[in-house]
Amino acid sequence: MDILVCENVTGPAMEDLRRRFEVEFVPELWRDPKALATRVGTARALIVRNQTQVTAELIASASKLEIIGRAGAGLDNVDTEAARRAGVVVTYAPNENSVSVAELTIGLMLALARNIPAADRDTRGGGWNRQAFMGNELYGKILGVVGLGRIGRLVAQRAIAFGMRVIAHDDYVDATSDDFRRLHVQLVPLDDLLHRSDVVTCHVPLNDETRGLFNAERFGRMKPTAWFINTSRGEVVDEEALIESLQRGRIGGAALDVRRIEPPRTSRLNELDNVILTPHIAAFTHEAQHRVVAAVCADVAAVLSGEAAANALGPAVPRRNSPS
Ligand code: MLT
Repeated sequence: MDILVCENVTGPAMEDLRRRFEVEFVPELWRDPKALATRVGTARALIVRNQTQVTAELIASASKLEIIGRAGAGLDNVDTEAARRAGVVVTYAPNENSVSVAELTIGLMLALARNIPAADRDTRGGGWNRQAFMGNELYGKILGVVGLGRIGRLVAQRAIAFGMRVIAHDDYVDATSDDFRRLHVQLVPLDDLLHRSDVVTCHVPLNDETRGLFNAERFGRMKPTAWFINTSRGEVVDEEALIESLQRGRIGGAALDVRRIEPPRTSRLNELDNVILTPHIAAFTHEAQHRVVAAVCADVAAVLSGEAAANALGPAVPRRNSPS
């Protein structure tokens, strides 16, 4: 078999790939790691989204594997180091869904500010309760962006267009660069950001530095009226600490597109009025998915045809094809 697709990755580029290569499309296979480990044994390429855990063990059971295609931006579910050691190319779509994620973040911020989901539910139920849905303007408020990478910057630009003041925390930004200067964002220490922001939005990758970044102590530093938005990864938040903070009024509300466990089990979050929950849809727009799937399929086709991948993290050709 040429390509094993073990999550729901579809679209014109995938159709094209299926015409050119032998593709096994088993979108629910990620749920069964044992069956996946068996099936991947004969695959030259593996295409995943974020649900498949591409561990060192899985890579070890894939002796013919040349490339792993991650249809998305985050690589936290792929053991990239194990892939590098095995000489397997890892390709992904680092930029293709950034606009969509930024737009959902702004949508969630507006939804929090104007109670849109609750007002919708109430009106459908026969209510016409205008006073109950008195909201807030974003204009003039302070947005704290934690993680000023591509998505964080797009959020900042859009928030500035709403008349918000944007402050940010990111240890890896070059504050002297022209790109940064053009943003009109002030870089501040994290504690300062938490203390000053009316809205805190998180755009960091998941790694050992960021796991559990938003804990009880950090929620405790935020304003009691502040809203917290997470469209990055669920594991950067201590969910129990967030629930406590929301219940005790230590922060004003939260909007979460991502969860520690996805799909989540029943959670006390479901019962809270000051929370908006969505099912990890930030990157799920027709436009973003078209770009993401096209980028990953192009790289998989290239590597299987003996060419280099354009968006590889690390080596762009597999060891078995590289001149040695
Ligand atoms: C991404 O990392 O690209 C998004 O979170 C969407 C996904 O995980 O598939």
